[in-house]
Amino acid sequence: MADAILRVNDLYTGYDGIPVIFGVSLEVMPGELVAIVGANGAGKTTTMRTISGLNHPLKGNILFEGTDISKFAAHEILKLGISYVPEGRRIFSKLSVEKNLSLGAYTEHSKTEIRRRLEELLEIFPVLGDRSKQIAETLSGGEQQMLAIARGLMSRPKLLMLDEMSLGLMPSMVEKMMDTITAINRTGTTVLLVEQMVQEALEIAHRGYVIQSGKIVQAGTARELLDSEEVRKAYLGM
Ligand SMILES: Nc1ncnc2c1ncn2[C@@H]1O[C@H](COP(=O)(O)OP(=O)(O)O)[C@@H](O)[C@H]1O
Ligand SMILES: [Mg+2]
Repeated sequence: MADAILRVNDLYTGYDGIPVIFGVSLEVMPGELVAIVGANGAGKTTTMRTISGLNHPLKGNILFEGTDISKFAAHEILKLGISYVPEGRRIFSKLSVEKNLSLGAYTEHSKTEIRRRLEELLEIFPVLGDRSKQIAETLSGGEQQMLAIARGLMSRPKLLMLDEMSLGLMPSMVEKMMDTITAINRTGTTVLLVEQMVQEALEIAHRGYVIQSGKIVQAGTARELLDSEEVRKAYLGM
């Protein structure tokens, strides 16, 4: 079996030395689309922040392509190929769509290369192409979210981590968002996403983990989780 691209081992992490994540272990294989699902406050964002180097483990470790990144700074982790798109559509609201995207290329300085990536991305996000000169804050909520993801892809990450992309979107937009994430994964980018929208996330994921009060309480293929009585009762209202 191939090696995991990301492996989280017995992770404890929190704020000011007080853990809110208690022994989380998970893995993502190259090419996979993995979802961590759970209610508000379960610890999804804290887990993502720790993988991306914005928080640090109190205990346990995080391996990316076999390298222990637990003590790495966020910019080093980004450089290794992990791109984190945080919750809440953090874009540069006063800059154009195109400028927002170019800034996402970070370490890439070649204008030709940046242009090439832009054009490639606009195929996945045609709506951004139509609006490339528009100021970001004038986009709709769904378009801003798409822009945040597209910007996260400009650094050509090996692993794209998405935090609550569906939050605040209307149902038709959520569906579009999930289709877009599927399309990104099909182009070869490994995706780890966290979602409160359990059903929607599991419908596009290969595998999933259920997180509750800082612990993984269930893991399996997306199908197994969708069929699980516990998941259906707790998250799908069935
Ligand atoms: N900056 C912070 N300082 C202290 N506690 C926090 C902070 N951010 C989140 N928490 C706490 O950590 C727990 C997990 O939160 P979070 O990871 O944001 O959950 P989720 O993303 O699943 O909603 C919650 O109990 C939350 O109150
Ligand atoms: Mg969160």
